[in-house]
Amino acid sequence: MSEFNINLSVDFAGVAMKNPIALASGACGFGRELSDYFDVSRLGAIISKGLTLNERSGNEGVRVWETESGLMNSIGLENPGVRGFIERELTHFNSLRLAHIVNLGGHSLDDYLEGASLLNDADIDILELNISCPNVKEGGMNFGVKTCVARGVVKAVRGVCKHKLMVKLSPNAEDIVSLALACEEEGADGISLTNTFLALAIDIEKRKPVFENVYAGLSGPAIKPISLRMTRQVAGAVKIPVMGVGGISNWRDAVEFIMAGARAVQIGTATLVRPDASIEILNGLRNFMVREKITDIREICGVV
Ligand SMILES: Cc1cc2nc3c(=O)[nH]c(=O)nc-3n(C[C@H](O)[C@H](O)[C@H](O)COP(=O)(O)O)c2cc1C
Repeated sequence: MSEFNINLSVDFAGVAMKNPIALASGACGFGRELSDYFDVSRLGAIISKGLTLNERSGNEGVRVWETESGLMNSIGLENPGVRGFIERELTHFNSLRLAHIVNLGGHSLDDYLEGASLLNDADIDILELNISCPNVKEGGMNFGVKTCVARGVVKAVRGVCKHKLMVKLSPNAEDIVSLALACEEEGADGISLTNTFLALAIDIEKRKPVFENVYAGLSGPAIKPISLRMTRQVAGAVKIPVMGVGGISNWRDAVEFIMAGARAVQIGTATLVRPDASIEILNGLRNFMVREKITDIREICGVV
């Protein structure tokens, strides 16, 4: 069997992806910089940096910190705002020939609703709703922790959003399976998981936390087995498709997520380490399928 006889394409909530490999939000900006390293259009999808209704300059102090087997970040959602994205980034973003996914965050329900409404006119395939943001009006508790809060934001956004809606879950959810089921009940077309894990690093000489906001998000190889476990649990419970994300660093990791039930996978931190990691993963996945005589990627989705 040759690589020309295998089918890597997947249907994600009615959106055609030529292969199951996507760039995760926050690891690729809007696709401009990575285009210097490889042809981004070879991938299945690109997911924009998280947008908020208004432009944000991000957090003060240390923003990224390496750990033994991962990366901590506290970027603070630096982004041009929804209007800035539409005016300055959308044309280039859409010139890439792959599925276009825009990630939207918010610090209040009104922000989510206005941001989602403004994006209705943009020619994109999927809106990825990042619910791992602190709800400023409710004392800063992350929208993605309690099922009832997540249900409320998904229901409201579904009511205004004309695009396919994929909800990106926080691994810090109290009960990630019931939260995913609530998203599905409220009309989500897909689920992605996981976002970063709440973590802490301490500067022992200064005797204070490394990050201004004390806690930061952990990503990379350290979180992979946990994200993989959650992906399997959620994919086994919902009917809508799931995109797996969390520490995928090589093609073997990607195969594990697909076998655990992910229809597609997102590559985040690995892209920051090796800009073309996603292409390496795509090539490795294709070679694996040739070796194992797998003619269609769907044959291995959810087999474990
Ligand atoms: C520097 C950085 C910035 C990120 N920015 C966003 C973001 O804007 N929106 C979002 O939903 N996730 C964001 N993430 C989370 C990633 O998309 C991904 O869910 C997480 O890092 C786990 O995957 P990974 O281990 O492959 O990086 C960011 C991650 C990193 C490392």
